[in-house]
Amino acid sequence: MAGRLEGKACIITGAGSGMGRAMAHRFVQEGAQVLLADISGQQDEVARAVGSAATAIHCDVADEDQVQAMIAAAEDRFGRIDVLCNNAGFGGGMAPLHKQSAEHWDRIHAVNIRGVFLGMKHGITSMLKTGGGAIVNTGSASGVIGWKHHSVYGAAKAGVHQLTKIAALDYSDKGIRVNAIAPGTMWTGLVAGSAQSETPPEGYPVLAGIPMNRWGTAMDIANAALYLASDEAAFVTGVILPVDGGYCIGFSGMGAERPGVTTADPEDL
Ligand SMILES: NC(=O)c1ccc[n+]([C@@H]2O[C@H](COP(=O)([O-])OP(=O)(O)OC[C@H]3O[C@@H](n4cnc5c(N)ncnc54)[C@H](O)[C@@H]3O)[C@@H](O)[C@H]2O)c1
Repeated sequence: MAGRLEGKACIITGAGSGMGRAMAHRFVQEGAQVLLADISGQQDEVARAVGSAATAIHCDVADEDQVQAMIAAAEDRFGRIDVLCNNAGFGGGMAPLHKQSAEHWDRIHAVNIRGVFLGMKHGITSMLKTGGGAIVNTGSASGVIGWKHHSVYGAAKAGVHQLTKIAALDYSDKGIRVNAIAPGTMWTGLVAGSAQSETPPEGYPVLAGIPMNRWGTAMDIANAALYLASDEAAFVTGVILPVDGGYCIGFSGMGAERPGVTTADPEDL
């Protein structure tokens, strides 16, 4: 049986770790060829693990010349780009807004939103030449709702969601679909300790307020990206898909005090 991405040429940024690495494995399982871009060097190891359908490239997504070189490399190798996953990003430096530095703002925004903009700009330019494609951006639940002390990161991710929706409109009649995933709290490289295991150790605490009461995994995101990248999502564009165990719909303020609110089971009261 043909895979869900059979013969599709895909670029995945941030492919050296976490969600991007999981996308690489999942996409190739479904018949894709992948160009794996990262700044860390770990994309080489991922490409080796994935096999001959994968090629690695160094790319800092905040650097326009390097993004253009990544797009050109995919065109050279595959002749076209069917799928572009703008997934590279990083967090950290959480603090109240007045304690945030302008330098931190610039670093976070250079990668997390400028990087997505550059990927889309040059990826779409390429897709327009070949008749279309699918873009999957990685946003965040913190760009859907407010996470305390995440003003800088949340603003960048909310911007990614808005870029996604407006680009979806711009190219809706050009065969290019543009969607985003809004991960909740995922057990990936962004979380301390996650490098050692794909799922949290037994008994590791789950953050309060996640209705499904577990951490998300990189593969949860890869499966969502697979759907949005595939032709199964042919009539889906401009969507910000939360993959968060119900976190956004059940949200009542991460880290915020919630007087009078209890999450205890009624039978325990
Ligand atoms: N982990 C979470 O809980 C969570 C939640 C919401 C959103 N996200 C987003 O998910 C995406 C993937 O993160 P992850 O959790 O898999 O983390 P991760 O750290 O495991 O992977 C991110 C990858 O991006 C790469 N990267 C960072 N800066 C780059 C740059 N300038 N150019 C190219 N590559 C760069 C890193 O080297 C790394 O390999 C990010 O955009 C992140 O903001 C993560």
